[in-house]
Amino acid sequence: MPIGHNNRIHVMHGVNLDQIGRRDPAHYGGMSFLQLEQAVDAFAVGLDVDARFFQTNHEGEFVEELHRLVNLADAAIVNAGAWSHYSRAIGDALQFAGVPVVEVHLSDVMAREPWRHVSVLSDACVATIAGKGVDGYRDALEILKRELGL
Ligand code: DQA
Repeated sequence: MPIGHNNRIHVMHGVNLDQIGRRDPAHYGGMSFLQLEQAVDAFAVGLDVDARFFQTNHEGEFVEELHRLVNLADAAIVNAGAWSHYSRAIGDALQFAGVPVVEVHLSDVMAREPWRHVSVLSDACVATIAGKGVDGYRDALEILKRELGL
């Protein structure tokens, strides 16, 4: 499929995800952030979708990217890191993002500390995938492909 038609998927990472190579490998698997993005891109190529990538450690920048999302992409994957558990600002922005979004967490948040059991983003997402490591992103791409009717 030609690039940039109806298969653009914005892969958005939030706070501390750029540091996963330095974080607990029991939760995050020990790969670098670059390796994570490359693996997701390889999944996207295999699924014939066009993945684009964004990461910031600044909540306002993440919100502003969500404001732009409808003009940038046809769907999105969001791993907002710790913001997932308390940022009503990101939750509100997702409500009017205008494209389908799947929430992904590398780690099994439900098996970790209680404060990670709550996501204030999931209501605005078509699905939430957690605890499958990088493979969770492939699942998310497949869900979004179906959502887009591809
Ligand atoms: C995370 C889970 C969050 O609880 C945590 O704060 C992160 C990463 C994950 O991918 O497992 O930074 O979103």
